Parts: sequence; C-alpha cells; structure tokens
Amino acid sequence: MKTVVITGSARGLGFNMARFFREYGYNVVISDLKEENLIKAKKELATIDSKGKVVFKTCNVSMFNELQELMKFAVSEFNTVDIWINNAGVNQPQKAVWELSENEINTIIDVDLKGTIYGSKVAMEEMSKNHSGAIYNIEGYGSNDAHMLGLNMYGTSKRAVTYFTESLAKEAEERNTGVLVGKLSPGIMITEFTTHSLGNDAMELSEKTKKVYNILGDTPQTVGKFLVDEMIKNTKNNVKINWLTNRKAFVRFLTAGFSKRNFFGENQSLLTDKEEIK
Ligand SMILES: NC(=O)c1ccc[n+]([C@@H]2O[C@H](COP(=O)([O-])OP(=O)(O)OC[C@H]3O[C@@H](n4cnc5c(N)ncnc54)[C@H](O)[C@@H]3O)[C@@H](O)[C@H]2O)c1
Repeated sequence: MKTVVITGSARGLGFNMARFFREYGYNVVISDLKEENLIKAKKELATIDSKGKVVFKTCNVSMFNELQELMKFAVSEFNTVDIWINNAGVNQPQKAVWELSENEINTIIDVDLKGTIYGSKVAMEEMSKNHSGAIYNIEGYGSNDAHMLGLNMYGTSKRAVTYFTESLAKEAEERNTGVLVGKLSPGIMITEFTTHSLGNDAMELSEKTKKVYNILGDTPQTVGKFLVDEMIKNTKNNVKINWLTNRKAFVRFLTAGFSKRNFFGENQSLLTDKEEIK
C-alpha cells in the first residue's frame, strides 16, 4: 500500500488532494499548523471509504526540524513514503513590497519558499535511501514571470519555487537518486487562500478580480482530483502537471458570456471543504 504526505492539508487544495489519494487507497498523512483543524479534517477524510489509513501530525513548514519530525512520523507509521507534496502556502496582503512589514515579508518567504526547500530536502534524504518516491512542489502566480501590484513577495517565492524544483529534478537525476521531482500548477482556486492574506486576514477582492476568478477559477476539489490522477500516473522526472493550460484559459474567456459560474454571489458560499465533501 502506498503512502502520501501532504503539508498544509487541513483545508483547501491539500485537503482535497488527501481526499482523492484516500479514494485511491493510499495511506495519507495530513499535516498543518493547528491540531484542531487536523482533527476536523481527519474526521471528514475518515468518512471516505478507503483501504488506506489517514493519520495527522502538526507541522509548521517554516521550521526545518518540524518537517524532519513529520517525515519520521510518516516512516514510523507506514515504513516508506511514496509521494511527498510541499503544498502549504500563504497569500500576501495586496500591498506594494515597501508597505509590507518585515514580519510579513519573512512569513511569505519562510512558508512559500523556504518551507518548500526544507520539505524537499527532508523528503529527498529519506526517499533517496530507498531509491524511490516522488516529490511535488506547488507553483503559483509569478512562476511564469507574471507581475502584479500586491503579489511581489508571493510571486518572488513562487518564481523561486519553480527554479528550485527544476534544479532539484536535475540534481536528483545526476545523483541517480531514483526519486522523481515535479511541479503542480493548480491555476486559480477559490479557497481561503484567495480571500485571506497570510492565512488569516480577510481581503476584499475587487469586482474586476472576482470577474477573472469566475472565469478562470475552480474549486480545490476539481483541481485536486486532476492533480492526484496525474501524479498517480506519472513516471517521469521534472514534469509540470498543469491544470489551467493556455488553451483552457482561452476557451474559458471565449465562452465567458454564456457561463453561469459565480463563486461570489449573494447566496453562494466559498464552496468550503465542508460543503464540497458532502
Ligand atoms: N488558491 C489559489 O488560487 C492558488 C493558486 C496557485 C497556487 N496556489 C498554491 O496552492 C497551495 C495551497 O493553497 P490553497 O489555495 O489550498 O490555500 P489554503 O489557504 O486553503 O490552504 C493552505 C494551507 O496551508 C496551511 N499553512 C499555512 N502556513 C503554514 C505553515 N507555516 N506550515 C504548515 N501549514 C501552513 C494553512 O493552514 C492551510 O491549511 C499553496 O502553495 C498556494 O500557494 C493556490
């Protein structure tokens, strides 16, 4: 039986990937900052019929030792880890970089970039011993060199995550580790991330942004299923598993006039995990 570890998986994309891995019979290790959120997530995941087990451990990805503990925990529970996903991430307040506090800058870099580097190091150390496994890192705005006011630090982190992941894939190959490294590109998902900065503070989205999100956005459930299906099939190193292709975006804009998609309407919730799992 195979095992997956996903950081930042008490909600959003991480939670939804956990859910589909469970449907495929994987053992699933979820982890996040707060134990109470993990207890709730585990309870919901346990309602899914699966041959695998679901367990959790708190882990702040900006702390290297906590990621080491997470790996130790997974190995003690299931012996080996087959897939490790560095998913935890925070959005940034919609401010220019000089308007951010030192603390805000550090948090974005520590979670979005260093958390991914630390997680990849921990995963590679363990997986290369077994000469098998796969590590996936999450791309985001900025990965493709796009620029926007209010997304500088987030984009800087994600651009670096892309470079880092591609370099890691090359290193993994040159060292003959037997470990695959890849990027997951989830496009735009309507999650807490979209409407909260640094995981907490609510952000008011402009009407223009909502319009674009209604056209290009998806639920983390839709995207999670796609990404899990592709990861399970993947046998290649240095892949990019891309949900929102240029072609899909083009078709979405072309058909926007006929579309009834509305994630932000009066009677619409944000399609929370709780509602989606029903
Ligand atoms: N939502 C989008 O539109 C979008 C688009 C592209 C990429 N992404 C990326 O996808 C990933 C998941 O995003 P999401 O939309 O599900 O967001 P989300 O906010 O719903 O989930 C992120 C999770 O990470 C956790 N987290 C935050 N800081 C952490 C830390 N220090 N240690 C451990 N866990 C921490 C949060 O508690 C939360 O459970 C992130 O890497 C994000 O950058 C999101």
